[in-house]
Amino acid sequence: MPMSGHQSVVHSHSEGPCLLLLLLVLSASGHPQSFPCRLIQNTAMCNSCHLSSIPDVFPPEIEEIFLDKNLLVDLQDGLSRYPFLKMLSCANNQLMIVQENVFSESRLLERLNLADNDLHFGHQQVARALSSLSQLKTLDLSGNGLREDMVSILVQNLSSLESLYLSRNAIQRLDESTFKNLHQLKELNIEKNVLFEISGAFDHMKKLQRLNLAFNCLPCLVNFEMTQLLVLNASHNSIDWFITNQELTETFMLETLDLSDNHLLFFPFLPTHNRIRTLLLANNRVGFYQHLSSNTSSNWTTSVEYYNLGQNVSNITMDLWNENLHGNLSSVELLDLNENRVNYFPQGFIKQMPHLYWLRLRSNCLQSFVLTSEELPISLYELDVSRNRLKEIKATQHSVSELNNLTHLNLSKNDLHKLSPRIFTSLPNLNTLDLSYNTVDVCYLPNYLSSSECLQWYNMTSLKQLYLAGCSIRNMPWSAFKGTALTHLELSDNPNLQLQQKTLEGLENSLQHLGLGNTDLHAFDFSLFTHLMSLNIRRNSLADLPESLMALKLKILDVRDNLLTTIRSQHASMLAESLQTVYMNGNAFNCCQLDWYMNLRESKVVNVADLSEITCLDLNHRRHRFLLLDAVYCGDTNIEESVVWYILLFLTVSVSIMGIFVIYMLTFQPRLLPRVIKKRCWRQTPY
Ligand SMILES: *[C@@H]1O[C@H](CO)[C@@H](O)[C@H](O)[C@H]1NC(C)=O
Ligand SMILES: *[C@@H]1O[C@H](CO)[C@@H](O)[C@H](O)[C@H]1NC(C)=O
Ligand SMILES: *[C@@H]1O[C@H](CO)[C@@H](O)[C@H](O)[C@H]1NC(C)=O
Ligand SMILES: *[C@@H]1O[C@H](CO)[C@@H](O)[C@H](O)[C@H]1NC(C)=O
Ligand SMILES: *[C@@H]1O[C@H](CO)[C@@H](O)[C@H](O)[C@H]1NC(C)=O
Ligand SMILES: *[C@@H]1O[C@H](CO)[C@@H](O)[C@H](O)[C@H]1NC(C)=O
Ligand SMILES: *[C@@H]1O[C@H](CO)[C@@H](O)[C@H](O)[C@H]1NC(C)=O
Ligand SMILES: *[C@@H]1O[C@H](CO)[C@@H](O)[C@H](O)[C@H]1NC(C)=O
Ligand SMILES: *[C@@H]1O[C@H](CO)[C@@H](O)[C@H](O)[C@H]1NC(C)=O
Ligand SMILES: *[C@@H]1O[C@H](CO)[C@@H](O)[C@H](O)[C@H]1NC(C)=O
Repeated sequence: MPMSGHQSVVHSHSEGPCLLLLLLVLSASGHPQSFPCRLIQNTAMCNSCHLSSIPDVFPPEIEEIFLDKNLLVDLQDGLSRYPFLKMLSCANNQLMIVQENVFSESRLLERLNLADNDLHFGHQQVARALSSLSQLKTLDLSGNGLREDMVSILVQNLSSLESLYLSRNAIQRLDESTFKNLHQLKELNIEKNVLFEISGAFDHMKKLQRLNLAFNCLPCLVNFEMTQLLVLNASHNSIDWFITNQELTETFMLETLDLSDNHLLFFPFLPTHNRIRTLLLANNRVGFYQHLSSNTSSNWTTSVEYYNLGQNVSNITMDLWNENLHGNLSSVELLDLNENRVNYFPQGFIKQMPHLYWLRLRSNCLQSFVLTSEELPISLYELDVSRNRLKEIKATQHSVSELNNLTHLNLSKNDLHKLSPRIFTSLPNLNTLDLSYNTVDVCYLPNYLSSSECLQWYNMTSLKQLYLAGCSIRNMPWSAFKGTALTHLELSDNPNLQLQQKTLEGLENSLQHLGLGNTDLHAFDFSLFTHLMSLNIRRNSLADLPESLMALKLKILDVRDNLLTTIRSQHASMLAESLQTVYMNGNAFNCCQLDWYMNLRESKVVNVADLSEITCLDLNHRRHRFLLLDAVYCGDTNIEESVVWYILLFLTVSVSIMGIFVIYMLTFQPRLLPRVIKKRCWRQTPY
């Protein structure tokens, strides 16, 4: 195919999208010019077009050129004819060289993306080329194998830069000289390098608002004093300490601090005055140690000193046990402490966050939790204390009722068994409650024994989702959920639950998801639950699908690990009318009665989510994977068997013939044997 008539090199095997683009260009430009780029107003789209140089056929007023994923190795002239260029993107090429004068005419260039190239080779030349870009605001040099010295040269004269992306390079340390002239910088991304030290590198950047240091090797962040910063992301490092310069009295602008996935032992020492709203500390080792400090008899260290790795020794001393040094937390809205080692909170600690909406404490070491408006801010919306060691929830009915924003409460996987009956009923706006994998009893009505350790749900109008999986529930009273409008009810993994029809009375018109896996389910009429969309009846020894399911419009059905051998094909057709996802492995399906499966498959909408795991048994009790079903012949087992017999017969005859041959050889050619042995042992034999 003839391509460009101009000097630019264009490979002739443009594929799929590019071919299409070519047609578009032809019709757009009006004259027959074969070129694999698309022009939309003043933007040229040439991504993935096998280009090895900048095309020179665009109109001179072009403002944006995308050349990502091409075959560029060097940038030579070619831009000079586009003096209005504001944006150039050459990400994902193999650029090593950028000629010094490439940008000499691109005075207006504001955004330049050179990510994922090999610029470390010719970085000095690249630096000289870049230095003429006096308007450059955004520069992406991610994934170029750059060390800090190279970076320092590359950005040396780019004093207009506002955003600089340097992720996935090889930067180890940063100091005052690295970004010396970047006074205008607002955003800096150094994610995924090997940074282990920072010394004064950001002091002069008075406008820096977003700093991303995630996925590096930083051991600590001490003497933090970037008052103007809005977002600091230092997740996925090895940070033991986060300590603010406590001498600064001004208000820090910081709104988001991400210290997830580090090695913090202490809650971070935040600025005294700050605006932090999002505080992410998941996956650390944070705990509180006040109980140790008040103990005068013990001899614990009470301060810690830090030394910079560079020449300039800085000496910061912290009073470790002083909980007041955590700064003012009054603006925090989200506190994520998932996967830490919190075993208690100091008195009034959570209460000092009057705007706290989300409190995440999954996988800590809490043994008891106080669910009262004295301890918790009434703004609290979502509370996750799952996977702790909770034995008790302390609460009084009155103080609980003041937590009127609490909507999601997750207490699953704890060791709860004593809960006062109306503790949750008192929460005015509770929507989702997860009590799975605790020991819970459901009260029989009327229940006037306040000492009883059972729970009631009657008349909780706000409650929509209730999870009671694995709660060792044996019996449930009739109408246990009456007066609620539950949409989700999870009762799976209560192997002794003998669910009665009357138990779920009152939920017929609300229930959308019902989990009854592993509940010894026998006879249950689902047909009344007309809004049911998702049903789990896994592990129930069912030999047939309940007839009543056919009346529903189920979208998700889980029937794994039952004793189903087949499904009536009219049932399959009925289910297929609404079903979107079905799980079925772990049954004893009969390979020769699979009409139902064909019915499901025909419907095209149904996704058998675990298809690759489903097996069936043929008449010889051999197991076949559904995916390889074509190889199964039902009824014709005689043929299969006779083939086996033929093979056996053939083998027997062959072995006999070989045996006779060997005996013949040994008998009639007796010398053959010693000769073979002799040859094998020629070193040792003396003759
Ligand atoms: C930056 O500017 C200075 C002074 O104009 C010049 O000496 C230096 O060579 C420039 N650096 C680069 C990489 O062009
Ligand atoms: C911090 O960076 C990591 C890695 O890129 C990212 O997953 C995380 O969402 C970032 N945190 C915030 C608060 O943006
Ligand atoms: C002081 O320490 C001892 C032993 O470590 C401990 O038994 C005691 O409870 C502590 N006292 C306080 C007030 O925490
Ligand atoms: C505390 O430490 C000092 C010096 O290390 C030691 O002399 C003293 O006996 C210790 N006191 C206690 C109570 O352990
Ligand atoms: C050490 O720090 C002081 C004050 O913080 C500063 O004036 C001095 O220039 C620094 N020295 C070096 C070698 O960085
Ligand atoms: C650090 O401070 C402590 C006390 O505040 C002092 O004893 C120590 O000498 C200081 N270290 C350095 C290196 O300045
Ligand atoms: C924290 O800051 C808020 C608002 O800036 C202020 O009202 C409150 O008094 C401060 N709390 C403390 C303990 O300083
Ligand atoms: C309740 O929580 C939500 C966050 O989901 C928040 O927007 C709202 O302001 C809170 N209400 C009160 C009264 O605190
Ligand atoms: C509650 O927490 C557990 C474990 O952390 C999690 O698996 C479950 O999905 C959560 N429940 C809800 C309703 O989000
Ligand atoms: C639930 O509400 C109904 C009607 O308001 C009332 O008759 C009934 O006693 C309530 N049940 C409980 C257990 O509070």
